[in-house]
Amino acid sequence: MGTKRQFRIWRGDENGGDLQDYTVEVNEGEVVLDIIHRLQATDAPDLACRWNCKAGKCGSCSMEINGMPKLGCMTRMSTFTEDETVTVTPLRTFPVIRDLVTDVSFNYEKARETPAFAPPADVAPGDYRMQQVDVERSQEFRKCIECFLCQTVCHVVRDHEENKQAFSGPRYFIRAAELDMHPLDTRTDRKEYAQAEQGLGFCNITKCCTEVCPEHIKITDNGIIPMKERVVDRRYDPLVWLGSKIFRRGETPQTSVTTARQGSATPPGTSRGGTHSHAGGSHDPQAEAQAQSGVNWHREVPHPTAPAVDDRGRLPLTELTFDRAAAPSPFGDDVTFPLPPEHLNFAHPEQDDKH
Ligand code: SF4
Ligand code: SF4
Ligand code: FES
Repeated sequence: MGTKRQFRIWRGDENGGDLQDYTVEVNEGEVVLDIIHRLQATDAPDLACRWNCKAGKCGSCSMEINGMPKLGCMTRMSTFTEDETVTVTPLRTFPVIRDLVTDVSFNYEKARETPAFAPPADVAPGDYRMQQVDVERSQEFRKCIECFLCQTVCHVVRDHEENKQAFSGPRYFIRAAELDMHPLDTRTDRKEYAQAEQGLGFCNITKCCTEVCPEHIKITDNGIIPMKERVVDRRYDPLVWLGSKIFRRGETPQTSVTTARQGSATPPGTSRGGTHSHAGGSHDPQAEAQAQSGVNWHREVPHPTAPAVDDRGRLPLTELTFDRAAAPSPFGDDVTFPLPPEHLNFAHPEQDDKH
């Protein structure tokens, strides 16, 4: 048998509404979305709420719970005290359709405005090749479930409707960052575009977006700040300015993954040893520090070479029998597993810390 708990839920539509009080049964292990469903089954059959997966993966059940943007299906009732009234309101930044359902088309409009992935014209889709390090680098941003919690919390548009036209928001800054670090993307003006068209300059790095992201994407530290740094490099660094005069702007960085990775021709417009590669660790103090602790995400990765074939186009037998690693490891090639705990960059909490 559950306990009775107090809820205040915003009811209304685009013409207005107010908070209404409900007393609902709450059982052990339930989340806020369970309570919304119970209300729909009992006191409020017409309560509108968007949801799909109930597993934190579809990004539909975004709402504001006690003023904090959260996923209803991932917010446990056990995080509130029994005498606490839980207030549930729709996302504040977007127009209300009804009750907890908002019109998030702002985000789809911004998605449409973001230039799409631009693969090299001379490589067919089946021939695209990326190294694992480059896949891992943008993988963080690909985890986005488009819940738009980061979009609703960002103060640039939360209280300033007038900024919406000029500001795409954190979700689309990480999309731009992801494409900017994609080794096969041939658009070289992602950061200039972010600055000029997406409103990157409006962001003053409050990190609220990072704080609410249910996928724990480091939106500011890994997406926005690196983009801002490179914009500043391009605009204000005199050496980069000079380089941009010699190498025409837009042609400076990359187009060849091999060039960036080998570090043989780091272009003047590129900061931190190459926009499109993790390589070149030996000159990077952070990489040196990581190498000392056993994990070096920036280590120089040998470029793969095709094995030699004989004049009939066949692999020599030794290619099949030779025992060698399939791919280089960011931990180094000479480590044994399991790694000592201090060398891990993620550790499970202690059993005692569960609560
Ligand atoms: S860090 Fe920037 S994008 Fe994120 S919430 Fe703050 S102002 Fe908005
Ligand atoms: S970046 Fe995070 S908070 Fe923003 S839409 Fe994606 S998953 Fe949601
Ligand atoms: S219902 Fe899919 S994220 Fe909550």
